[in-house]
Amino acid sequence: MTSTTPTPDWAARFSERMTRVRASEIRELLKLLDQPDILSFAGGIPDPGLFPAAQIQAGYDAILSDADLSRQALQYSVSEGYLPLRRWIAERMALNGVTCDEHNIIITAGSQQALDLIGKLFLTRGDTVMVARPTYLGALQAFNAYEPAYLDLPERALADGVDASALMSGRAPNPLGYFVPDFANPTGQSLSLAEREALLDLADQLDMTLIEDAAYRELRFEGEALPTLLALDIARCGSIEAARTLFCGTFSKTISPALRIGWVCGPRAVIEKLVLLKQGCDLHVSTVNQMAAHRAVSEGYEQHLGMLRAAYGAKARTILAALDRHMPSGVTWSRPQGGMFVWVWLPEGMDGKLLLERALAEERVAFVPGEPFFAEVPAANAIRLSYSLPTDAEIEDGVARLARLIARAA
Ligand SMILES: Cc1ncc(COP(=O)(O)O)c(C=O)c1O
Repeated sequence: MTSTTPTPDWAARFSERMTRVRASEIRELLKLLDQPDILSFAGGIPDPGLFPAAQIQAGYDAILSDADLSRQALQYSVSEGYLPLRRWIAERMALNGVTCDEHNIIITAGSQQALDLIGKLFLTRGDTVMVARPTYLGALQAFNAYEPAYLDLPERALADGVDASALMSGRAPNPLGYFVPDFANPTGQSLSLAEREALLDLADQLDMTLIEDAAYRELRFEGEALPTLLALDIARCGSIEAARTLFCGTFSKTISPALRIGWVCGPRAVIEKLVLLKQGCDLHVSTVNQMAAHRAVSEGYEQHLGMLRAAYGAKARTILAALDRHMPSGVTWSRPQGGMFVWVWLPEGMDGKLLLERALAEERVAFVPGEPFFAEVPAANAIRLSYSLPTDAEIEDGVARLARLIARAA
């Protein structure tokens, strides 16, 4: 017998906020890229050949073969996270000018969950979220569910100065600011020390809470490390408890994204609220994963980071040299000192999305069009290239193909 009950009209039943939560057309398009003959700069994920698999396996073995440890590892646990890991993170933050202890740390399911929980904690519909132009697409996806109004910080605002009250005219006050100061996704660019100070000045003027997303910070392969926004904030206000910056870290780019381990470091008053939200969300991050990650970072971590930096640095040099060699005039690009991305500005009037369609059809090469990375005012003539996955030969070949297409399309 067939049922006569009509299919529910789900769209009419979903909450209002779901109008802001949409599948990214880029992600849909990128699903089609899983074909062997496509040279892809789209990925934006770590090179799996660099995962410390043997070390992680040894960690799981040691934990699960010990009766006491395995009982703890496989049981429910506290929402704050595994205490030895929080202590390890607090010590590492302290080495970087952030005096704090475990009470200033919550472990989250990657830094992506940290962004969601922070959005939930701070955003009421219509609140202002200030972002760089362009910014990390995943942050926009996390915040969208809380229905904010975005404000693009104008491109040279931090370098040249900006009139804070003009910037905020007609906007809800006390914005939440989201920035990736080191080797940003998608641009690969970093804020200079002067720009970091200028951002903190702006945050003071606007009484703005700042999210510092440090996802790629450990992957510097050139130049000197700059202080984190949180460290600079603490140097001004005297203590993490008085700081306005929430630092989001992750082991996704340095150990493995599958462990899903990130953290927030910030004032206790904020961490305590995030813990409550995490309880309601998923209780806690997998304890066995946290214990394995703690083992992995407790031994040989610096050496492992050195290996990652050398590997990504070599690939970055390859792609920059290939861009220098092949790109026609009218194309410009960022010169990252760390991370996984190069941002390419196409000639005025050229559309990154249309270029991707042609690139797939004519040259079998892929990348991510720039447009979805803009929160408020989009720009079509940009693309993001990730050099983390292709080999040197693939990078050279792929850039040559892309340059050929751009020259034809111009
Ligand atoms: C800038 C940035 N922040 C956060 C994330 C989320 O990473 P995870 O949740 O794995 O820590 C990513 C992932 O690509 C990213 O590029």
